[in-house]
Amino acid sequence: MGQVLYRKYRPQNFEEIVGQKGVVDVLKRSIEIDRISHAYLFSGPAGTGKTTLARIFARAVNCLSKSDFDKPCNKCEHCLEFLSQKTLDLVEIDAASSRGIDEIRSLREGIRALPFKAKYKVYIIDEVHMLTKEAFNALLKTLEEPPAHVIFILATTEIDKVLETIISRTQHFEFRKISEEDIQKALLIIAKKEKSKVDPEVINIISVLAEGSLRDAESMLDQALSAASQEISTDDIRKLFGVPTRTLLQDMTRALITGDSKTALKIIHESTGEGIDHKAFFKLLIRDFRFLLYLNIDQDFEKELSKFLPKTELDSLVKFAKECNIKKIEYILNVLNNNYQLLKLAYLPQLPLELAVLKITTKTV
Ligand SMILES: Nc1ncnc2c1ncn2[C@@H]1O[C@H](COP(=O)(O)OP(=O)(O)O)[C@@H](O)[C@H]1O
Ligand SMILES: [Mg+2]
Ligand SMILES: [Zn+2]
Repeated sequence: MGQVLYRKYRPQNFEEIVGQKGVVDVLKRSIEIDRISHAYLFSGPAGTGKTTLARIFARAVNCLSKSDFDKPCNKCEHCLEFLSQKTLDLVEIDAASSRGIDEIRSLREGIRALPFKAKYKVYIIDEVHMLTKEAFNALLKTLEEPPAHVIFILATTEIDKVLETIISRTQHFEFRKISEEDIQKALLIIAKKEKSKVDPEVINIISVLAEGSLRDAESMLDQALSAASQEISTDDIRKLFGVPTRTLLQDMTRALITGDSKTALKIIHESTGEGIDHKAFFKLLIRDFRFLLYLNIDQDFEKELSKFLPKTELDSLVKFAKECNIKKIEYILNVLNNNYQLLKLAYLPQLPLELAVLKITTKTV
């Protein structure tokens, strides 16, 4: 299959970035009005576009295009050199693997030299929170008086571990998780480009499992495309990612609404035997009860859901929504949400779901 999807479809300009509108707008504007900072900090969850945007920005500040509005052009000499990573004016350091003071020291020496060709020498330091304390301090010194021809773009998934003194010396942008809707749109575009037929429900389930990471979503689509022959069906990805079947989910939803402990526990027991992923089970249950909540509050929501849910599925949800009130749904969602968070620590993966189910079915709301 060649290149993995998330590399193949890495956005090459600002317009292709999904979500992160605030960040993109400010960065673009800073190029148009030529007010560029010397140190940026990109923080946020993995797979949300930090590295991608850092590279786009590195090209944009060096792009030779006459117009300020189409930078980076990705065609000029500078853009091409940055794209092929064949320039010494773009330095990418992964702090997770090179954590030491030596790297930062050589960096401090490196930044004194003028760029070879470009206007700015750009340093992208990924996972900056992984640097050792000494390296941090050395970096701090560099940030205190960065030369005019240097731009730092620091990235981190753990902003809590970055020293306040570093944060205060940078222009800080917080990247957000990508919404399920935006993930779905992005995946549909990729599937189309790959000339693959994908069931809308497949896209939908992947968008739930990805938890806001577009990279993870693209990897899952990749796996699904490699596994399936021609058309990707829900069955393919259910098997691939341990997702419970629609029938199983519906049976569980019904058991929770009617307070049927026996059936609910039996479903968990059987699904464990079938290798169903409990995290996925939780997520899809939470998704269903959120749909029920919205259906309960607003009739028009049915139209929204019909855009991506298969009709049979929507019909059963609408029916369920009539059988329960908001208080009950709220209670169920609360318990599911609280117990979802126990998954990380549980020594039996099915236990948090079992406990949630017991709590819900034995309480009379
Ligand atoms: N906001 C986004 N818009 C478009 N594609 C994205 C976005 N975030 C992630 N991706 C996809 O995921 C891949 C990895 O993204 P990356 O920028 O390396 O994420 P991060 O550095 O935040 O972990 C990209 O090549 C792209 O295919
Ligand atoms: Mg990255
Ligand atoms: Zn260019």
